[in-house]
Amino acid sequence: MSQDSNQDKDKLWGGRFSEPTDAFVEQFTASVNFDQRMALQDIAGSRVHARMLSKVGVLSQNDCDAIQKGLDEVENDIVSGRFEWSVELEDVHMNIEAALTAKIGDAGKRLHTGRSRNDQVATDIRLYLREQINFIVAEIRRLQSGLLDLAEREFDTIMPGFTHLQVAQPITFGHHMMAWFEMMQRDASRMMDCQVRMNQSPLGAAALAGTSYPIDREFSAEQLGFDQPTRNSLDSVSDRDFAIEFCAASALLMTHLSRCSEELVIWSSAQFDFIELPDRFCTGSSIMPQKKNPDVPELVRGKVGRVNGHLVSLLTLMKSQPLAYNKDNQEDKEPLFDTIDTVRGSLRAFADMMPAITCKKDNMYKAAKQGFSTATDLADYLVRKGLPFRDAHEVVGKAVALGVDTAKDLSEMTLPELQQFSDMISDDVFDVLTLEGSVAARNHIGGTAPEQVKKAVVTGRLLIQD
Ligand code: ARG
Repeated sequence: MSQDSNQDKDKLWGGRFSEPTDAFVEQFTASVNFDQRMALQDIAGSRVHARMLSKVGVLSQNDCDAIQKGLDEVENDIVSGRFEWSVELEDVHMNIEAALTAKIGDAGKRLHTGRSRNDQVATDIRLYLREQINFIVAEIRRLQSGLLDLAEREFDTIMPGFTHLQVAQPITFGHHMMAWFEMMQRDASRMMDCQVRMNQSPLGAAALAGTSYPIDREFSAEQLGFDQPTRNSLDSVSDRDFAIEFCAASALLMTHLSRCSEELVIWSSAQFDFIELPDRFCTGSSIMPQKKNPDVPELVRGKVGRVNGHLVSLLTLMKSQPLAYNKDNQEDKEPLFDTIDTVRGSLRAFADMMPAITCKKDNMYKAAKQGFSTATDLADYLVRKGLPFRDAHEVVGKAVALGVDTAKDLSEMTLPELQQFSDMISDDVFDVLTLEGSVAARNHIGGTAPEQVKKAVVTGRLLIQD
């Protein structure tokens, strides 16, 4: 940065200053290196602001036309990579305004009438995030659609279901995938919900108190696709709830993905060996030739850390801030942008990877057989024969103890062996002791029966059509 360019006369706000900004302070306070991501939103806001000013008679039609044309050129320069961003001009807003004025002269200087960077930046972030949420929801839908395909393919594939990571009851793999689907369904809904609240136009709030020009805030709101103008100017320039809500929804989404990741890591280990991750989503070890590491799930599991961190950053940034705008708020962008990038990247990797995993059905089946996973079915069987559930629990506990001693699953015991624990047991017991019988019996809304998985897939396909 040259000292020459660092003169107060170059600043768009330089009028009242008697010495140039300290060179380090200039860099320290600048945001252009990261807020240039909102350039197209900034231009869209300026186009509408100029049209609104001309509509209410504050700006001439000629000036408005010149601004539109000038902004087209600035946009072209930015999109084609020709635009020269300058730290001396501090942020995206002043870089664009200065470039516009360089192109069209005085009309460019009239653009900022009745506006402040405070309502401008609040508008830009909302426009930017609103669009990003569309991309995120689309990616969630792609992942959900992959999960539905997988659930359909593996609707009757039996695996052990776990509680405390101990074998609990047999379930179907399709049912497990539909559990992930449900988490994603809520995540998408949270994203869309926060998008609704964010979709109000702060334009016109100006610095904090509104403006003395006869502006038409409804027009600006409508032109920018907002549902309505915000209702209070002080709140408009200082509110960042929408960014915090988005980060909270993202933290939860990433938490869900980290849980899925953990299961993929466990399932693909040699000890479980339930699934095979496609090679293209794994990497090897530079020293151990035999290794195939589940990098993608591990990395996604790890990335939840930074997203949780960004949520805490934004909450802390906002805590105790007096109304209205404070420069603190410039610190909202990096956490927000990194959250967006991390969420989009993680979803993309998952959406690509999930449909390509293969199930090792025999291994899952064997594992389900090992942990007395049909013990509850035996208890339910005895209840149906008239035994109170607590007594049935006791009887089955004893049968399991024998199974542990003799290394036999309940389904592998003989009828006389089982009958020593209760004379209510007869030869129809074997229907409930098989894994297939166990899962098929849980045939109600939300149950693991293959028939229910098929129904859940049909419902799921309808749910993601919004
Ligand atoms: N770069 C600033 C931000 O990100 C824009 C608003 C600056 N407003 C001000 N009065 N300094 O928040």
